[in-house]
Amino acid sequence: MELTPKVVSDFQNIIQIPENGIVAFDEKMIVPKDFSNDFDRILISKKCLALRLEALADQIAADYKDEIFAAVILKGAVIFFSDLARALAEREVTVRYDVMVANSYVDTESTGEINIRLDVSDDIQGKDVLIVEDIIDTGTTLKRLQQYFLEERQVNSVKICAFMDKKARRQVEVNVDYVGFEVPNHYLVGYGLDFNQHYRSLPYVAVLHQRVYEK
Ligand code: IMP
Ligand code: MG
Repeated sequence: MELTPKVVSDFQNIIQIPENGIVAFDEKMIVPKDFSNDFDRILISKKCLALRLEALADQIAADYKDEIFAAVILKGAVIFFSDLARALAEREVTVRYDVMVANSYVDTESTGEINIRLDVSDDIQGKDVLIVEDIIDTGTTLKRLQQYFLEERQVNSVKICAFMDKKARRQVEVNVDYVGFEVPNHYLVGYGLDFNQHYRSLPYVAVLHQRVYEK
């Protein structure tokens, strides 16, 4: 496998990340000492994900005239959302948001069940909701959340924005309106994503080395 990252320049469309990852010219990634043996490689560099985020904000801003009500899925989407919300404000789209805890994951295996442990508290009946998620994998979480908002919270519409899409793993059909990157099927960490609560604060996305989740 060729593991030299690819330098890319077009961030306007959904970007399929090659196995070897993407990086900008002259970019140096810093891996904290504690994590120095944990990654197989960096998949999406800090500059590349920032550039893609700007393009995504352009696309969302073009679709929304009024305020957006965002339902941010904790904890993974926090880092992505905080960048996205400010990028939208710079495009004169304001965002109101609340957070949710909903997951279907234990370690690296999807259980297929969704569990809402913290719900959005705002009155969202009749509103247009944008669900913001870090990554879509089997699709279970987002499909169930979409149903929940439409049926139980009686919102007017639900759109989905996922920073990454692991398409090869999809089991449930779900329409994702905004996608940052299509990523290969590996366990990813960083930019909000964790493995057992580690690695969330890294400014890039890395492929976790098997030895970490097999130990
Ligand atoms: P789904 O319901 O199978 O689509 O799972 C989506 C959720 O699984 C996301 O919100 C993530 O929290 C988690 N997830 C999926 N893939 C990864 C990964 O590669 N790294 C970390 N978390 C992941
Ligand atoms: Mg999640």
